[in-house]
Amino acid sequence: MDTVIVTGAAGFIGSHLVQRLLKEKYKVIGIDCLTDYYPIEIKKNNLDKLKNENFTFLEQDITEMELISIFNKSKFLIHVAAQPGVRASWGNQFDTYVKDNILATQKILESAKESKSLQKIVMASSSSIYGEQEGVMIEDVTVPKPNSPYGATKLASENLGLIYSSNYDLPITSLRYFTVYGPRQRPDMAFFRFIKANLLGEEMTIFGDGKQIRDFTFISDIIDANLNCMKSEIHGNVLNIGGGKTYSVRDVLNKIEIITGKKNKLIFAEKQKGDVKRTEACIDKAIETISYSPKISLNEGLEKQISWIKDNLGNK
Ligand code: UGA
Repeated sequence: MDTVIVTGAAGFIGSHLVQRLLKEKYKVIGIDCLTDYYPIEIKKNNLDKLKNENFTFLEQDITEMELISIFNKSKFLIHVAAQPGVRASWGNQFDTYVKDNILATQKILESAKESKSLQKIVMASSSSIYGEQEGVMIEDVTVPKPNSPYGATKLASENLGLIYSSNYDLPITSLRYFTVYGPRQRPDMAFFRFIKANLLGEEMTIFGDGKQIRDFTFISDIIDANLNCMKSEIHGNVLNIGGGKTYSVRDVLNKIEIITGKKNKLIFAEKQKGDVKRTEACIDKAIETISYSPKISLNEGLEKQISWIKDNLGNK
């Protein structure tokens, strides 16, 4: 059995990754320091779903732990641990973004270069490295210009991956995720907030005019991309991982009303600093190099997330 290390294992994306890897009969070592960006109970609930004889969980901070011996036991590393949040990255919390997105990545890469057994490192990057752009975002064409402090730290992290890959011949690929949604989505993200408010008949806040466009990506497509990438030969790359179609926030709100049969109570607030008007991923490179193929439509994905939130409303 091959061993995969997943950093950020207790989070939204990390916990889905661990579940899929266990299902595919890998041994998994999960690392997470349970930061309090959102309630720790949510992360503990995620971890409860991962109990398995092939799963080892280390509640530790990457910047403080010894990594080389763990890496030496493993064939693959998927690094998704990060301080997330475009809109929350202003102000005096920035040191957390620097520590968890840049220093932690540098530590991982320094340790990876000393380790003997890692055959592939997949890192999580973000559409937020692109910032405001007019058209479709293409990896080797569109010049990154992050619009938030968060995006700046994710770009630094991604660049570190490329730098270590080219200088030390490390097998690293970064995946630029485009607004991921689905069951267990972080509670600060739009879909979670909209759906919960709709179901409870509460008001929901729309930042700006709701005409902002996103390339929303369902969680299982993100997990497929990670596994395909992990098993592939490519490295020294960055790949966009989007849902394959774009929608406005207003489109999403309409769809939620149709699926639940309940009316949204909207409140409009100022556009948030750091938010961009549109994201749109060109996914041709991912299709070509890792056979990426997004399968879940926005309707289907929303139905799954709504049904999960209905089942879990009591826990929130
Ligand atoms: C998301 C994640 O939060 C980032 O961690 C990730 O890196 C990023 O996607 C990415 O793709 O790079 P964002 O697109 O802002 O960031 O995702 P949502 O929180 O789902 O917001 C989508 C849109 O809805 C934004 O324009 C936001 O302003 C808006 N929104 C969000 C609202 O109008 N109201 C809310 O209550 C929340």
